Amino acid sequence: MNATGNPAVTSVVTWANEGGIAVVTVNSPPVNALSAAVRGGLKQAFEAAAADPAVEAVVLICEGQTFMAGADISEFGKPPVSPSFREVQDVMEATGKPVVMAIHGTALGGGLEIALVGNYRIAVPSAKLGLPEVKLGLLPGAGGTQRLPRVVGVEKALALITSGDQVPAKEALKIGLLDALAEEGHLKRDALAFARAVLAEKRPLKRVGDLGDKLAEVRGKPEVFAEFRKANARKFRGFEAPEAIIRCIEAAVDLPLEEGLVFERARFEELKVGSQSAAQRHYFFAERQAAKVPDVPADTPLRDIQTVGVLGAGTMGTGIAMSFLNGGFRVRLLETSEAALEHGTGIIRKTYEGNVARGRMSDKDFDGRLAQLTPTLDYADLADCDLIVEAVFEQMDIKKQVFAKLDAVAKPGAILATNTSYLDVNEIAAATKRPQDVIGLHFFSPAHIMRLLEVVRGSETAKDVIATSMKLARRIGKVPVLVGVCHGFVGNRIHLQRQTQAERIVLEGATPWQVDAVLEGFGLPMGPFRMRDMAGNDVGWNRETSSSATVREILNEMGRHGQKSGAGYYDYDAGRKPTPSEISLKVIRDFAAARGIAQREIPDEEIFERCLYVMVNEGAKILEEGIASRASDIDVVWVTGYGWPVYRGGPMFWGELVGLDRISARLSELAALHGDSFQPAALLQRLAAEGKGFAQA
Ligand code: 3HC
Ligand code: NAI
Repeated sequence: MNATGNPAVTSVVTWANEGGIAVVTVNSPPVNALSAAVRGGLKQAFEAAAADPAVEAVVLICEGQTFMAGADISEFGKPPVSPSFREVQDVMEATGKPVVMAIHGTALGGGLEIALVGNYRIAVPSAKLGLPEVKLGLLPGAGGTQRLPRVVGVEKALALITSGDQVPAKEALKIGLLDALAEEGHLKRDALAFARAVLAEKRPLKRVGDLGDKLAEVRGKPEVFAEFRKANARKFRGFEAPEAIIRCIEAAVDLPLEEGLVFERARFEELKVGSQSAAQRHYFFAERQAAKVPDVPADTPLRDIQTVGVLGAGTMGTGIAMSFLNGGFRVRLLETSEAALEHGTGIIRKTYEGNVARGRMSDKDFDGRLAQLTPTLDYADLADCDLIVEAVFEQMDIKKQVFAKLDAVAKPGAILATNTSYLDVNEIAAATKRPQDVIGLHFFSPAHIMRLLEVVRGSETAKDVIATSMKLARRIGKVPVLVGVCHGFVGNRIHLQRQTQAERIVLEGATPWQVDAVLEGFGLPMGPFRMRDMAGNDVGWNRETSSSATVREILNEMGRHGQKSGAGYYDYDAGRKPTPSEISLKVIRDFAAARGIAQREIPDEEIFERCLYVMVNEGAKILEEGIASRASDIDVVWVTGYGWPVYRGGPMFWGELVGLDRISARLSELAALHGDSFQPAALLQRLAAEGKGFAQA
């Protein structure tokens, strides 16, 4: 019994009879995930409500921040515990009394699937509904692929379930996913009133499973599915879950509900035990884990950030400025000349104009954001900034001068950040008298779009500066990962290893297109040479100092700067479509010959191993040096910053899947053949010998 004299079914589910209506309440923080305890509690509560003659209807509602946000992901991979989703849903459907689902926060995955077996759904306007299982490499396994198309139609269901997008309550009402909206903050009151109205009007016990009209509309029209597959082929490339989802929705159209549910469950189980879902679940927790810093307590007081200064209005400075403007901050943008300032603000304006034209930004937001931007040439204008992010040229002497000037003008307690890609943050911090306030905030290009933010901790950086930076990153929609100081931090340092390999392999006889094809076949969006052509072969290249010392220098000296100049490693047509270039290949072959590098046919497998195993090895070195706190942080960097396919979890997760013993042994072989750069890290060797994973390092 609970305080009101009603049965407290379990510690996480209670119910109370409120004037003939059983109010079943789930309270399982943080997100009311449908753990075994919640499922068990729901089953008991609905059985009790069904059996109790004093109960005429049931309202299911949740405490805390949200309605049920889905199955408990941490239970996947463990033996199943009853009751299953299906058993709970069957009990709910068999109540014989109106069941009203009262939704706030996010009704996601299994949460929405539970809601779909209710007879009616009501939500507050701020609520969102969705089936995000695809993001975990799964499909909705509790009827979502069968019931959602019955409610919203096949085409909408295909789009929603393969994207995992959330539908805001108002839109959900329009498409029939909700029956009513409650007043914000009054969900329980309005859900009870709704239930009473259903009883008073003797409304029928609507069952989603009985709806058939929307399915009939596409029956015998396989082209609906064929077109959907075609239109999304690029987006779904490499992923298993979207195709499984499409097949389940086809089954919804072709089979009776019961058979469709069985078909869906079988596909769900297949995906659940597969490596893609394991990888994507790993990534889900990795991203959340990355936000936590082992030695910086979660309750560390934060510095207040309202006004942000950005130095340098080039590629990065403009993107960084937009990130903060979009996050609602005031921004002061400083440059060295009026022309550079105009150029930078022009880029910001043009980007926002593009957003407005595409309907992604309102006119009001356009005006509002530009009004928050103050371009300036005067350091004195940075005096009231709470945070200043430097994004000037990548040269230590310039960075030091800039930080010395910032030290002179910035108010006490202001955070001074550098966006350097490779330089030593400690050396930059030493140019000030307040190294404790200095940190690296390494954005990725384009900075207003890319989600990764490497937060670089200097040896003297204060804990509250770290805590504030991690929190701030979330406020501007970034995924922060704390890293230590070293050349290239986590992302670029590992990238450099792979790039070096790719270039060596090409000198030994592979073609750039062979290397690109191998890595693209693995799931990377672009191979290293296509990537270099796209980014600009000349980034970091200097005409004055160029001395034909590398293939890249020679290509640049020939004017082959990449896509933008119509030629780089590849040749490009007017539509920027690449074709393998005989010219660049000759440059490579001549260069290798001049240096006496023997040419041979290189098997794809060798390219694969050399390019990818060195990444795992570098990751292991980064871990043993303490540059990253956990292997999963390295995975987050590579998935969010470099397009590592999320269905392969990140290089460290993938390395474990391949087997650390196998990688370590192969690296030793490669070291004997090609030199010390392949020498496996001590940590890798130890874990391989002990049969352990990185988490047990
Ligand atoms: N299972 C287990 N834990 C979960 C969880 C879930 N479904 N969803 C969130 N959590 C945990 C997080 O790991 C985090 O834990 P931590 O505090 O220890 O790090 C905590 O809940 C809070 O999560 P967030 O930091 O993400 O909180 P937000 O407020 O930013 O977001 C959310 C809340 C929108 C609910 C977001 O957590 C989310 O998207 N969750 C996943 C939803 C999902 O994928 N549901 C489908 C699950 S699969 C399924 O239902 C299968 C079914 O079809 C059979
Ligand atoms: P950029 O050359 O596009 O822009 C640099 C801007 O800084 C120029 O507009 C220049 O006028 C301005 N500037 C130079 N000295 C200045 C000074 N003393 N005060 C104020 N402004 C000054 O360079 P980019 O690419 O934006 O790089 C900036 C920094 O960001 C570098 O440290 C770089 O390593 C880093 N970075 C670059 C990435 C990229 O993809 N381009 C990615 C991540 C970091």
